[in-house]
Amino acid sequence: MDIPKILESLAAWLPAMAALSAQPDSRPPNSEGAETGPLINLFDYESLARRRLSQLALDYVSSGAGDEITLRRNRECFDEIRLQPRVLVGVSKIDTSLELFGERLDYPILLAPCAYQKLVHPEGEIETARGAAAARAPFVVSTFATVALEEIAQATPAPLWFQLYVHPDKAFTRDLIQRTQDAGYRVLCVTVDTPILGIRDRERRAGFHLPPGIERANLMALGTAVTKMGHFEGGGNYSILDPAINWDTIDWIRSCTKLPVVLKGILNPEDARLACEHGVAGIIVSNHGGRNLDTVPATIESLPAVMEAVEGRIPVLLDGGVRRGTDIVKALAYGAKAVLIGRPYLWGLGVGGSQGIEQVIRILRMELEGAMALCGTPSLPRITRSTLWPV
Ligand code: FNR
Ligand code: LAC
Repeated sequence: MDIPKILESLAAWLPAMAALSAQPDSRPPNSEGAETGPLINLFDYESLARRRLSQLALDYVSSGAGDEITLRRNRECFDEIRLQPRVLVGVSKIDTSLELFGERLDYPILLAPCAYQKLVHPEGEIETARGAAAARAPFVVSTFATVALEEIAQATPAPLWFQLYVHPDKAFTRDLIQRTQDAGYRVLCVTVDTPILGIRDRERRAGFHLPPGIERANLMALGTAVTKMGHFEGGGNYSILDPAINWDTIDWIRSCTKLPVVLKGILNPEDARLACEHGVAGIIVSNHGGRNLDTVPATIESLPAVMEAVEGRIPVLLDGGVRRGTDIVKALAYGAKAVLIGRPYLWGLGVGGSQGIEQVIRILRMELEGAMALCGTPSLPRITRSTLWPV
């Protein structure tokens, strides 16, 4: 046996094996030193969160579906788009404000619905709502929050939207919709890309489960078996999500509430057209952060066709891979009204609680303002297709 040869081939394999077992890493090459230096950008929060979060939380948050091709592509596509700046425009005043569903927002950044936040911080969604209130950013609370929706609304003055997962028990779902309206939530965001949960190897390999003391607080009326169930346990998906949801369900949801109904998880322009026909108030172009169906396109590359189908009838928002102010400019240039961030605020929550979230948003907002100044687009309506370098 040729020992040196074996050692040589083993050495060649080691980096590949290490890469296979590592967390998906979206950090850019200029992040050396980030783990000990000041937190300059969202990737620095990611670096620190990797060291601070429990392995279970990290696996859950980082996880994407299948081979995580879509998860990576969400970032790669933003990076590939080039901006086309204008000079000598006069940018001493930058205005990032907008109106969305009848509310004035200071800037076009929202916190996407993310489940099980007590995995990341002991106070879970309450702490996130504190950060959202401080930053004056709307927070979309997940149906699978670990604090009851009423408690979150009472704890802080944060502008809140509610994300609905339709439960097979329609009386329960109707009651849940009513509760959000009663508690003062402003928008009902129905996630339509999850008739079943995505198949995430990382999460399954980690044996994802809800540890003691962490449960789906909004589902209490369904009993503890449901509030604590693992994603794939006891019939899994089918006990917490209704796989039968269809366009009739959307009509029914609209009939249950006065709140604006927004559909989250549209990629196909045909679905965008149907959404307009069904009278919803808006849509969110999303692939669930690459967590559901692997190998679908990045959201930013799906956006242009969706915009064409919508023809300006309703606002279109986007999430998935937004990490830089320039990403926001690119989404807006293609016609999105605003963006949502998911993982970055969970990193902020894990690293510094509500202040971490406030900082993550502050950084992104500062980068957005900088990008707008350097693009020569001092207000949001000035950001158009011509802000993108023609290809
Ligand atoms: C999510 N997402 C999500 N979406 C939803 O509609 N309901 C939910 O409960 C959850 N839960 C959830 C948990 C975690 C840990 C993550 C990372 C994501 C998807 C989320 O709303 C959003 O679409 C993506 O996170 C956006 O992509 P980025 O910003 O994470 O790249
Ligand atoms: C997730 C679900 C709960 O992405 O939406 O984990």
